[in-house]
Amino acid sequence: MKPSRFTAVGNWILDRFPLTNLWNDHMAHYYAPKNLNFWYFFGSLALLVLVNQFLTGILLTMNYKPDATLAFDSVEYIMRDVNWGWLVRYMHSTGASAFFIVVYLHMFRGMLYGSFKQPRELIWIFGMFIFVALMAEAFMGYLLPWGQMSYWGAQVIISLFSAIPVIGDELALWIRGDYVVSDATLNRFFAFHVISVPLVLVLLVLLHLIALHESGSNNPDGIEIKEHEDENGFPVDGIPLHPYYTVKDIVGVGVFLLFFATVIFYMPEMGGYFLEHANFIPADPMKTPEHIAPVWYFTPFYAILRAIPDKFAGVVGMGGAIVVLFLLPWLDRSPVKSIRYRGGIYKKALLLFVISFLALGYLGTQPATPLATTFARIFTAIYFGFFLLMPLYTRWEKTKPLPERLTDHPSLEDRIPALLETFDEITHVVPVQTESGTATRRKLNPEGLARVLGRLAINLKKKFD
Ligand code: HEM
Repeated sequence: MKPSRFTAVGNWILDRFPLTNLWNDHMAHYYAPKNLNFWYFFGSLALLVLVNQFLTGILLTMNYKPDATLAFDSVEYIMRDVNWGWLVRYMHSTGASAFFIVVYLHMFRGMLYGSFKQPRELIWIFGMFIFVALMAEAFMGYLLPWGQMSYWGAQVIISLFSAIPVIGDELALWIRGDYVVSDATLNRFFAFHVISVPLVLVLLVLLHLIALHESGSNNPDGIEIKEHEDENGFPVDGIPLHPYYTVKDIVGVGVFLLFFATVIFYMPEMGGYFLEHANFIPADPMKTPEHIAPVWYFTPFYAILRAIPDKFAGVVGMGGAIVVLFLLPWLDRSPVKSIRYRGGIYKKALLLFVISFLALGYLGTQPATPLATTFARIFTAIYFGFFLLMPLYTRWEKTKPLPERLTDHPSLEDRIPALLETFDEITHVVPVQTESGTATRRKLNPEGLARVLGRLAINLKKKFD
């Protein structure tokens, strides 16, 4: 039978391009551990947000003007006059915050399951370069609307470079292209934001994924599935990425889009955290805003900078907070990867780290009062303590024996009946009088809540031991 025209075109391409091999090697015959949980959604979500940023960014560029006299107005024009411009801009601005939420959770998953440990050090290192590139991309993008916070935020951050001894002032001048942030700065930031950094990001994501597919995914048990293979050489505890995880990831995408759309349509400024209030005022080089704070995703690092009294030491501290993350694969000396089999010290240390990271994030958004600075210093010490003491406590602590094969763990779906029972326990149905007679309403049951919290505390204690 003569092949259809469609098949003929397909065959013509396959004879010249290894599409089937690529698909099989990285999707249909690529085996991932069968126990990946919801923490593994964030990689594909990061890819989704990356695509969203590219598409909405291209559309924004069609009407944006990278000129200090026009930039602010061009953004207002996009918001008010361009068809669907408001949606495209909110998708892009919300996308920036979503990117950091997704990437922070993605990195935290790595710390939960020791995904940065041998043999996945390079995946982590490429990931860290992505993180740095992402910060540069977000920082330069934030200047473009040319609002008060864009302008003064950039002024503060670029002036940090002048704290570097000897070359500092010249370096800051070179970055700005002027003695203050100006049209020259806006133009170069536009060029970097729209073309250079996105190219670097795409390249790094490719390297990240190539490295990932070389060693294969880690998993919540932190044991290697390649150690048990069947007669065809496929891991017995593995399942093909496609269709199993492609389909599963769609669930993650659905839940993510629900949150994403809610923010875009109902709270695009997120109370001034995603789009700061002062940025709706055009940049004014003659008027410094009362309180300058970077966007929320930079604030943990900004709080570390402010916590250290000397400006240069502060810059080193802020840079150091990122450098220690690069070193994680070598700081962690534990014989096990996953938190499930680590001892209590790592679990408590990780909890303290998360608390200090969140607290620093909050403090970075607040004015630096003496009390706030004292707290910022304590949390900065905990932040660095977590990393710098890691070689000691991960070596000393007693770990649990590792299983031979992947273990069964209840999934989120399995937990739904228990969650419904808990909901029944912490609420109760009470009769209420309405204008049309008696009705029932669900109300909080304080006794039930106390029981549930008590059980939660006992379970948490057990988990942390
Ligand atoms: C644009 C940003 C990023 C994208 C698109 C991305 C994409 C992905 C994807 C698709 C996976 C496989 C699925 C998964 O494990 O969730 C993955 C795994 C991984 N990523 Fe990323 N990633 C990004 C940023 C980062 C960053 C910033 C880090 C850490 C510094 C990181 C560290 C890792 C690690 C360690 C794994 C392996 C996890 C495991 O097997 O347990 N990634 N990444």
